[in-house]
Amino acid sequence: MGNRLNFRFPIETLQAQRTPFYYYDMGLLRDTLRKINRIIDGKPFKVHYALKANENARILDEMVKAGLGADLVSGGEMKAALAAGFKPVDMAYAGVGKTDWEILLGLENEIGCFNVESVPEMEVISALAAETGRTARIAIRVNPDIDAHTHKYITTGTADNKFGISLEQLPEVVSLARSLPNIHLRGLHFHIGSQLTDMKPYSMLCDTINRLQDEFEGQGVHFEIINVGGGLGIDYEQPDSHPIADFEQYFGIFDQHLQLRPGQELHFELGRSIVAQCGSLISRVLYVKHSRDKRFVILDAGMNDLIRPALYQASHLVQNLTSLSDEHDTYDVVGPICESSDVFVRDYRLPLTQRGDLIAIRSAGAYGESMASCYNMHPLSGTFFD
Ligand code: LLP
Repeated sequence: MGNRLNFRFPIETLQAQRTPFYYYDMGLLRDTLRKINRIIDGKPFKVHYALKANENARILDEMVKAGLGADLVSGGEMKAALAAGFKPVDMAYAGVGKTDWEILLGLENEIGCFNVESVPEMEVISALAAETGRTARIAIRVNPDIDAHTHKYITTGTADNKFGISLEQLPEVVSLARSLPNIHLRGLHFHIGSQLTDMKPYSMLCDTINRLQDEFEGQGVHFEIINVGGGLGIDYEQPDSHPIADFEQYFGIFDQHLQLRPGQELHFELGRSIVAQCGSLISRVLYVKHSRDKRFVILDAGMNDLIRPALYQASHLVQNLTSLSDEHDTYDVVGPICESSDVFVRDYRLPLTQRGDLIAIRSAGAYGESMASCYNMHPLSGTFFD
């Protein structure tokens, strides 16, 4: 019957749950975190977990226990990270649109780093730090103009998008940061995109960073930290063959190519590669509908629960967990939402499927629950922790 989720309990346990819900394999999450910590052990590397991938409190708890820092993009995430027990010094706060209260929250808590995306933002941070008698620790987000060859909505490091300071403007912005009394410039921050499976853009990023560091050192400017963002991709097609992302290769690229200076720390901000594979969206088949040319499997989960297929044409492995049939048919698997983009997969082979079957949409631990909405006034899906 092909791959099935590796439950440690009888399927009846899942069948008894109200659907849809996010199922999290906490054993896999812990194995993933142990693997990361084993690889970076003894290196001046610090991994920050990108909360945007999944802010569920049980998930955050595992990150804190594993000793990870937090990569934040809003005051809401900062509050969640504080409540979860991340140390403020291990928090990095990024985003092009930080509001005053969010900046003040970061200043009050003395977070480790504001990743600053523009000159006006740096001026506001500096002014708020001066008003409150504090010093803001910052890194400048640099747009290295490297094409990560991923989906256009999740490419962030090219010159034509809104993120970061261009390489041309960087020297001027570094001088400005060094001249502001309430700003302590700690380093440079980069992030070139998400779901990268080709490692070449990362080695290009290392080359760019090495060149920049040489140039700045020539002018007597040294950085405490270099932050290379996140973006390591996962295997959406065969999650059971690759339940843990290729962290050896990923960290190895930076280890080999990036010339860290003495005392310098290398920071990473990983989201998807840590949590995607431990989560599945579990849903029940409401109806199997036959139209003239198609068979539709209509689920009780929709694009409000998992928006990635509708928003990015992302494909997730879909499995029927309960069909006992040896026969297969070809289906479009869709949700109940009143939008024609509410489709998880089209023309997809599944064992014969009927009302009441449980369907798993795999690799949904990242950007699944965190991007869910109540569109059409559906309640948010529940959770189940294994
Ligand atoms: N750092 C920065 C500055 C980021 O913008 C992101 C993701 C990360 C770190 C974490 O990237 P990760 O390791 O998770 O790839 N919703 C989209 C992904 C959006 C990513 C946004 N930024 C999706 O579902 O594919």
